[in-house]
Amino acid sequence: TNLKPLDSSKVKIFPKEVKSTPLPNEKLVFGQTFTDHMLCIEYDAAKGWADPVIKPYGPLSLDPSTCVFHYAFELFEGMKAYRSPDNKITMFRPDKNMERMNKSADRICLPTFDNEELIKLIGKLIEQDKHLVPQGQGYSLYIRPTMIGTSEGLGVHTPDKAMIFVICSPVGPYYKTGFKAVRLEATDYACRAWPGGVGDKKLGANYAPCIKPQLEAASRGYQQNLWLFGPNKNITEVGTMNVFFAFKNEETGKKELVTAPLDGTILEGVTRDSILQLAREKLDPKEWDVNERYTSIYEVEEKASKGLLLEAFGAGTAAVVSPIKEIGWKGNDISVPLLPGEQSGPLSKSIAKWIADIQYGKVQKDNWSKVV
Ligand code: COI
Repeated sequence: TNLKPLDSSKVKIFPKEVKSTPLPNEKLVFGQTFTDHMLCIEYDAAKGWADPVIKPYGPLSLDPSTCVFHYAFELFEGMKAYRSPDNKITMFRPDKNMERMNKSADRICLPTFDNEELIKLIGKLIEQDKHLVPQGQGYSLYIRPTMIGTSEGLGVHTPDKAMIFVICSPVGPYYKTGFKAVRLEATDYACRAWPGGVGDKKLGANYAPCIKPQLEAASRGYQQNLWLFGPNKNITEVGTMNVFFAFKNEETGKKELVTAPLDGTILEGVTRDSILQLAREKLDPKEWDVNERYTSIYEVEEKASKGLLLEAFGAGTAAVVSPIKEIGWKGNDISVPLLPGEQSGPLSKSIAKWIADIQYGKVQKDNWSKVV
């Protein structure tokens, strides 16, 4: 076949006439303002990937019969670029996001592409608007690569046209005052994902159905919900993030960091993977086990009652580490200890620092930082 591969060297850049002025850091609200440019790449099943275009940020125009609107041919990624104190701009582990993006595309019959080429193109997009990458601890550029099916017509089939677009939003810390421990409600009347489903793919269709349980939790005073699955009520995720627990073993006194295994129902979080790698490297194995295993709400409840629940936190690109202070379950609140006068436990705090030090270029790790 003679399909054109995605080729970053073919990019055409149409710069915006007047560059916008950056907002002051304190005005940045997650995902509410965007940089001056967007990257668009069209795909045609008969030709392959068209020449990529970087152009001023603006609306898309699509026929109302376009398949994305009817059958949810949509997937996205969330990744970040950081400005170091010496003004270098780096993307954090973009290869992981591209890998996952291709897996999502393959699952819903959208076209796949060369990871490296899209990373280079995103680099060029950031380069175009680099004055809008904020500086300072907790500030970054949130990057939203997206792919949609753009075939017109109501037949349900493999889209013969598709588009990748990438937009970028300068963002601050998810919580203005650094950490803010959250209260969760465990949800067992709805589930986010199931065996054989698509919960491990970053499809837009996985997100819309999650808002209602979240609103129900909010109506009872909880910020987020904790997702459970199956008869054992295994804990899978929190809101839109992966979730970690730290326990103490009753017999041995040894500590354990636990997160759900990647069994197809768990989003393959880049932050999740980074935390596991760093924990396995940095925690003393005489003191800590780091395990990908199931833990249930019953185990958490029981450990908490015996003083063996040490910490709990969500992990994702947007908030990075999000400490948990309470979990509502069957009318009771399970409380999670925090450091006195602080909003997290000691391990959550260390992990957040390990990651930030790499993201802001204080510490180098393998090839986790890709210079733009
Ligand atoms: C994350 O980065 O934790 C997310 O998945 C959030 C995104 C859907 C806004």
